[in-house]
Amino acid sequence: MKAVLSKVTGGPETLVFEDFPAPEIRPGCAIIQVKAVGINFPDVLMIEDKYQNKPPRPFAPGGELSGIVKEIGEGVTNVKVGDRVLAQLGSGGLVEEALAPAGRLTIIPDAMPFDEAAAFILTYGTSYHALKDRGHLKAGETLLVLGAAGGVGLSAVELGKAMGARVIAACSTQEKVDLAIKHGADAGIVYGRGPFDRDGQRALGQLFKEACGENGADVIYDAVGGDYAEPALRSIAWEGRYLVIGFAAGDIPKIPLNLALLKGCDIVGVFWGTWTAKNPDLFQQEIQELLDLYAASKIKPYVSESFPFAKGADAIAHLGSRKAMGKVVVTID
Ligand SMILES: NC(=O)c1ccc[n+]([C@@H]2O[C@H](COP(=O)([O-])OP(=O)(O)OC[C@H]3O[C@@H](n4cnc5c(N)ncnc54)[C@H](OP(=O)(O)O)[C@@H]3O)[C@@H](O)[C@H]2O)c1
Repeated sequence: MKAVLSKVTGGPETLVFEDFPAPEIRPGCAIIQVKAVGINFPDVLMIEDKYQNKPPRPFAPGGELSGIVKEIGEGVTNVKVGDRVLAQLGSGGLVEEALAPAGRLTIIPDAMPFDEAAAFILTYGTSYHALKDRGHLKAGETLLVLGAAGGVGLSAVELGKAMGARVIAACSTQEKVDLAIKHGADAGIVYGRGPFDRDGQRALGQLFKEACGENGADVIYDAVGGDYAEPALRSIAWEGRYLVIGFAAGDIPKIPLNLALLKGCDIVGVFWGTWTAKNPDLFQQEIQELLDLYAASKIKPYVSESFPFAKGADAIAHLGSRKAMGKVVVTID
């Protein structure tokens, strides 16, 4: 079979599209004929060895996919041959056939297209876990989302709205803010592209404070990090929750801890992948809750770009360029 492979450490230009042995069935697993693969920022980081998880090479990037069950191993009872499924794997998606542990598979509704299914679980799963389990977001609270037009960001906007929050979208361009508002944000601010010096950070903090209002943001969803984090934290409400999702801007911010004291706030880490592995039953329960929200049209993946299989590397490059909006997907015929 064909695969997009990382054989050496480097950017998307180092990826190759070539033959790779098809997987063999194992107990407790299924082989999926892959139809679509969702691209996420961890793919950008993983091929450069900058992500927490480092799969042994050669490996195929692509942490989530959708497709059809081709074969099941001994002991598999939750799916059967022919089922349409989505899978959360962490990596290994950009292949014609993928071996997936049965516990990582979910049957998708008949009406859900494969591209939307491949763009679903990583972003909505992360944001749902973040807002519900870690941020305890309540109806009527103010939620500030940084990088609000990105993959996880846009899902946080939609879920925040579905949970009854007032959502403020913060993005680097007006086009991105407009997209977030189209997906339910109540208001938006353009924060520019940085880097920011001390004065720039002060101005940024003022922008966040004005957007969030007198009481500040009850919950801040930060998938961007870098120079944006501290100014955002300065706009948090008393007893607010600051969700540490990721560092797409590159730098891991160093936060003065007196801010947590002064605001009586929580700075809360979110690591969805590890949480799903430690809580398989809760993970499945939350996927079903998300599919219910999808069926009720409260959430819907926005697939802005679709790349053919052989151009899988370009899909990862597109995400790394900061130009992507919503979700980028690779489709496999
Ligand atoms: N904690 C978890 O469990 C978990 C799960 C999934 C993803 N993540 C993390 O969440 C972050 C976002 O992932 P994603 O898949 O949503 O990525 P994405 O679709 O590329 O969105 C990231 C957003 O970050 C902003 N950004 C700022 N500087 C950037 C830069 N130099 N390059 C690219 N984007 C930049 C962009 O928004 P603006 O241009 O508007 O600033 C962009 O829309 C990543 O750090 C990822 O590792 C964490």
